[in-house]
Amino acid sequence: MLSRVARQGFFMLLVIVLVSGGCDKLKGERPLRPIREYEKMIVGNLYADYVGTRNCLAACHEHDRLKLFFDASTMGAQLKKGSGMPLVDCESCHGPGSLAVRDLTPDLVAANAAKGVKTPCDFKTLIDLAALPAPAQSLICLKCHSANATFNLHNWNAGIHAVNEVSCFDCHDVHSSPDLKVTPLASGRLCFSCHEAAQMEFSLSSHHPLKEGRVFCVDCHDPHGGFGESSLQKDTVRETCVQCHPEKRGPFLYEHADVVEECLNCHAPHGSVNQRLLVAREPFLCLRCHEGHFINKPEGGAISAGYARGLYTRCTDCHSRIHGTDVPSSSGRGRFTQ
Ligand code: HEC
Ligand code: HEC
Ligand code: HEC
Ligand code: HEC
Ligand code: HEC
Ligand code: HEC
Ligand code: HEC
Ligand code: HEC
Ligand code: HEC
Repeated sequence: MLSRVARQGFFMLLVIVLVSGGCDKLKGERPLRPIREYEKMIVGNLYADYVGTRNCLAACHEHDRLKLFFDASTMGAQLKKGSGMPLVDCESCHGPGSLAVRDLTPDLVAANAAKGVKTPCDFKTLIDLAALPAPAQSLICLKCHSANATFNLHNWNAGIHAVNEVSCFDCHDVHSSPDLKVTPLASGRLCFSCHEAAQMEFSLSSHHPLKEGRVFCVDCHDPHGGFGESSLQKDTVRETCVQCHPEKRGPFLYEHADVVEECLNCHAPHGSVNQRLLVAREPFLCLRCHEGHFINKPEGGAISAGYARGLYTRCTDCHSRIHGTDVPSSSGRGRFTQ
C-alpha cells in the first residue's frame, strides 16, 4: 500500500514538474531515482559475485531438499545453450551469493555439526525477497517470464492482482515441490485464502460444483489478469458461461429479448440460496420484469399464473424454454412454453 501511495505521490510530482519546468530540466536535476533504487533492490548486493549453485551448496548441505526439488522441476532442468550450465539457478532469484558463503569452510560446518549446531550462511547479503515490494517481487520472475513472451502473462501488468500488489510469490511457491504447476484443484484453496466472500458463496445450498472438483476458479477467471470486470477467461460473462453450457448459446428463432445476453440478470456465478443459482426465487424472479397473468382452465374460469391455490408457483413450469426456443407457443408466438 505504502509504495503505491509513494508512486502516486511521485507521479503527481512528475506532473507538477512537467507543467512548471519542462523535460530537460527534469532530466538534469531530478534523475528518476525510484527506478534506480528498484534496480538496486532487484540486483542485490553490489559487492557480491555470482558463485554458482555448486559452490553455494558445497559450503553447506542445508538446502539439499530445495535443490533436489528444484533440479527436478522444469525451471531447474533448463540448460544454457553454449555452456550446458543451468539456465535458472539459485542465484537467478536470490542474487549473487559469494558473500553469503565467504566465511563458510567445510571445517567450520563439520565442527558446528559435531556440536549439533547448524551453520547458517550469511543470507542477509542475499536479496531479501520477502521484503521487496510486490511489483519488485514480480519483476524477479518477469525478467525471464516476460509479459510479451509468456502467453498467459499478456494481461499481467494491467490485471487486478498486479494493480493490487499481489505478486507472483503469493501464488507460486517455487520451493514447495518439484512440480511448479498450480493444479486447478490446488488453485481453489489458494484463491480462498484471500477471497473469503467467494468461499462463502460456494458454500451456499446451490453452487457451482467447485468443492466437488468439477469446476475450478481458473475455468472462469485468469489469475494473471483477463478481460472485462472480473478478469474473466472470455470477453464477456456470457461467453464464459456458454463454454460449458453450449445449449444456452443460441441463436434461437424466439429469443428472450436480449435478457439472456446477460446470464447474471437471473443467475449468480458462484452460489445462491435459491435453486439453480437463481438471484431470486420464482415467480419473483420473473415478476421483477413481468406482470403475472391469468390462464383459462379447461373446465372454465381462470387461475392466476404464478399464484395458484394460495401457493406461489414457478413460471417455468409452463415457460420451460426460458433461455430461448425455436418452437412457437400455441398462439404462434415465442413464449417459451415448449
Ligand atoms: C525462481 C526463483 C527462485 C529460485 C531459482 C530459487 N529460489 Fe529460493 N526462494 C525463492 C522465493 C520467492 C522464496 C520465498 C521468499 C519469501 O519468503 O517470500 C525463496 C526462499 C528460499 C529459502 C528460504 C526458506 C524457504 O524454504 O522458504 C531458501 C533457503 C532458498 N530459497 C534457497 C534456495 C536454493 C538453495 C536455491 C537453488 C537450488 C533456490 N532457493 C532457488 C525463489 C527462488
Ligand atoms: C532465470 C530465468 C527465470 C527466472 C528468474 C524465473 N523463471 Fe520460471 N522458468 C524459467 C524457464 C526457462 C522455465 C521452463 C520453460 C517454461 O516453461 O517457460 C520456467 C518454468 C516455470 C514454471 C513452470 C512452467 C510449466 O509449464 O511447467 C513456473 C510456474 C515458473 N517458471 C514460475 C516462476 C516464478 C514464480 C518465478 C519467480 C519467483 C520464476 N519462474 C522465475 C525461467 C525463469
Ligand atoms: C493470484 C494467483 C497467481 C498470481 C499472482 C500469479 N499466478 Fe501464475 N498461475 C496461477 C495459477 C492458478 C496457475 C495455473 C492455472 C493457469 O494456467 O491459469 C498459474 C500458472 C502459471 C504459469 C504456467 C504454468 C502452469 O502452472 O500452468 C506460469 C509460468 C506462471 N503462472 C507464472 C507466473 C508469474 C511469472 C507471475 C507473476 C508475474 C504469476 N504467475 C502470478 C496463479 C497465479
Ligand atoms: C494474496 C492474496 C490473493 C490471492 C492468493 C488471490 N487473490 Fe484475487 N485478488 C486479491 C486482491 C487484493 C484483489 C483486488 C481487491 C478485490 O477486488 O478483492 C483481487 C481481485 C480478484 C478478482 C477481481 C475482483 C473484481 O472485483 O474485479 C478476481 C476475479 C480474483 N481476484 C480471482 C482470484 C483467483 C481466481 C485466485 C486464485 C487463482 C486469486 N484471486 C487469488 C488478492 C488475492
Ligand atoms: C462458473 C464461473 C466462475 C467460477 C467457477 C468462479 N467465478 Fe468468480 N466470478 C464469475 C463471474 C461471472 C463474476 C462476475 C460477477 C459480476 O460481474 O458481478 C465473478 C466474480 C468474482 C469476483 C469479484 C466479485 C465478487 O463476488 O467479489 C471474485 C473476487 C471472484 N469471482 C473470485 C472467484 C474465486 C476465488 C473463485 C474460485 C474459488 C471463482 N471466482 C470461481 C464466475 C466464476
Ligand atoms: C467450467 C465449466 C462451467 C462454466 C464455465 C460454467 N458452468 Fe454452470 N455448471 C457447470 C457444471 C459442471 C454444473 C453442474 C451440472 C450438474 O450438476 O449436472 C453447472 C451448473 C449450472 C447451473 C445449474 C445449477 C443447479 O443447481 O442445477 C446453472 C444455473 C449454471 N451452471 C449457470 C452458469 C452460469 C450463469 C455460468 C457463467 C457465469 C456458468 N454456469 C459457467 C459447469 C460450468
Ligand atoms: C431470464 C432469466 C434467466 C436468464 C437471463 C438466464 N437464465 Fe438460466 N435459468 C433461468 C431459470 C428460471 C432456470 C431454472 C429453470 C428450471 O428450474 O427448470 C435456469 C436454469 C439454468 C440452468 C440449469 C438448468 C438447465 O436448463 O440446464 C443453466 C445451466 C442455465 N440456466 C444457464 C444459463 C446461462 C449460461 C445463461 C446466460 C447465457 C442463463 N442461464 C441466463 C433463468 C435465466
Ligand atoms: C430482466 C428482465 C426480465 C426478466 C428477469 C424476465 N424477463 Fe421475460 N422478457 C423480458 C423482456 C424485455 C421481454 C421482451 C419484451 C416483451 O415482449 O415483453 C421478455 C419476454 C418474455 C416472454 C415473451 C413475451 C411475449 O409477449 O412474447 C415471456 C413468456 C417471458 N418473457 C417470460 C419470462 C419468465 C417466465 C421469466 C422468469 C423465469 C422472465 N420472463 C424473466 C424481460 C425479462
Ligand atoms: C400454467 C402455465 C403458465 C404459468 C404457470 C405461467 N404462464 Fe405465462 N403464459 C402461459 C401461456 C399458455 C401463455 C400464452 C402462450 C401463447 O401466447 O401461446 C403465457 C403467456 C405469457 C406471457 C406473454 C404475454 C401475455 O400476457 O400473453 C408472459 C409475459 C408470461 N406468460 C409471463 C409469465 C410469468 C411472469 C409467469 C409467472 C408469474 C407465468 N407466465 C406463468 C402459461 C403459463
